Amino acid sequence: MRFLISVLLLGLLAWPWPVVHAARAVRPVKTTAVEVRAEEPPAEPSYPDIAANDEPTPRLNGPRVVGTTPGREFIYRLPVTGAAPLTCTVTNLPPGLTFDAATGVIRGRVEKEGTTPVAITVRNRYGTARATLRIVAGRNKLALTPPMGWNSWNVWGTQVSDEKVRAAAEALERTGLAACGYRYVCIDDGWQGRRTPEGVMQPNERFPDMKALGDWLHARGFLFGMYTSPGPFTCGRYLGSWRHEEADARLYASWGVDYLKHDWCSYEGIARQKTPEVLQQPYIVMRAALDKTDRDIVYAICQYGMGEVWTWARQPNIGGNLWRTTGDIEDTWQSVSEIGFRHSPLARFAGPGGWNDPDMLVLGVVGWGEKTRPTRLTPDEQITHMTLWALLAAPLILGCDLTRLDEFTRRLLTNPEVIGIDQDELGVPATRRDTAQDGTEVWARPLADGRLAVGLFNRSNDTQTVTANWRDLGLRGRCTVRDVWQRRDVGTFDQVFAALVPPHGARLLLLRPQPTAPRSPRRTATPPANQHGNGN
Ligand code: GAL
Repeated sequence: MRFLISVLLLGLLAWPWPVVHAARAVRPVKTTAVEVRAEEPPAEPSYPDIAANDEPTPRLNGPRVVGTTPGREFIYRLPVTGAAPLTCTVTNLPPGLTFDAATGVIRGRVEKEGTTPVAITVRNRYGTARATLRIVAGRNKLALTPPMGWNSWNVWGTQVSDEKVRAAAEALERTGLAACGYRYVCIDDGWQGRRTPEGVMQPNERFPDMKALGDWLHARGFLFGMYTSPGPFTCGRYLGSWRHEEADARLYASWGVDYLKHDWCSYEGIARQKTPEVLQQPYIVMRAALDKTDRDIVYAICQYGMGEVWTWARQPNIGGNLWRTTGDIEDTWQSVSEIGFRHSPLARFAGPGGWNDPDMLVLGVVGWGEKTRPTRLTPDEQITHMTLWALLAAPLILGCDLTRLDEFTRRLLTNPEVIGIDQDELGVPATRRDTAQDGTEVWARPLADGRLAVGLFNRSNDTQTVTANWRDLGLRGRCTVRDVWQRRDVGTFDQVFAALVPPHGARLLLLRPQPTAPRSPRRTATPPANQHGNGN
């Protein structure tokens, strides 16, 4: 039923609205003492049954390994969840690092090369979680797991500003996303102003003080991402780094930049032929410029996969930590599915330190600066998007307005087991293991602890049964099966597991092979008795 209610608002409505259902709520009206007609808030939104990350027990999220170069600034905000108050204890830090229990951030400069198993304990009144975080200090040890964070492009386009970047960082904290491991806060195109006569790039009026912005992010334990392009101009027609690479890299380092996305736009005018040498040249130049700085800067190459970039992006004179494999993503099923499902042959090129990048997530409120809107993907397509990106070991870079995060999107982005799959330290991306005429596909990736993460996908327009056969997965015997989106153990299965999957939808499973019993004729599911704790 639809009806109008009248409300008298005295004073400004508080912003932000509660995270829950915010995107679906009636837009807040800023006014004083005027009559406002508002529609009745919609009923509870209906979305597929995926679990919320609201368990009270303490947990260390994100990766179990992080790298740094000795002598360079290191900032790591511990991603921990659980009911407040949480107490974190960190022991066995390598010399040069300290942990600030008040902010939850490890920082400093590691003195020597080497790997240190750092013991992390998270406690609250519900229990204690213990985990080991390996800090690896050495040359070229960045992005040992795919970067996670936020980038301005998919929501603000070139209309990004200092204010919007800070709002995104604050929202990462408020919504609990930072506590799940999202830590890079990246400005995309649209920050540039003019160069001084000496050639020093000035940010435009929307960025009054980049260094202050970098410091502000670092104080909160976030890392600072920046964007440029090798041609004279960017795709948004702002100034690029052509012939100013060293000055620009120096400038970024002075601002505290930790991540650089290096695009391609307008380099076309310079690279008339697309030979491998020509395609590589601008990335070699910027690599050399970055190496002259004293900062660890993750290097994100963005030339849409030209010249099979995955085959050369990691070579030492380029040292790409991630590389876009395709053109720009859009919030449509066609775009997400065409991009995501083409990555099986590319899997072998990615691994710790260098990742295939199928582009940023198009979940939540997006819009590229025009008019923002909730993603046009259906809820099941959104599940497929997140499932596939986690299986692919893709960078998880959010591209939405985080100040308007609805509950379903929050659940999609914060499931710690999905993030755990993406961030698995073995770093082996999924490959397609089976495909059928009916549009169903089975993908899988091995994890460091011996489990297998398996995606059951349905690319068709009808509900289908998708079957994972052990023989396609390289498994034998009995396996426990856990449903990752529902966060529950399903049972123990032999040879095969099948599930109904809605159109354009996905199921994400964790399979743990069981020791072979001497005689085990059973084929059916056994009760989900306590197979492997919380499955993470
Ligand atoms: C494109 C790039 C986008 C965005 C845009 C900015 O080339 O793929 O992700 O960075 O440039 O103009």
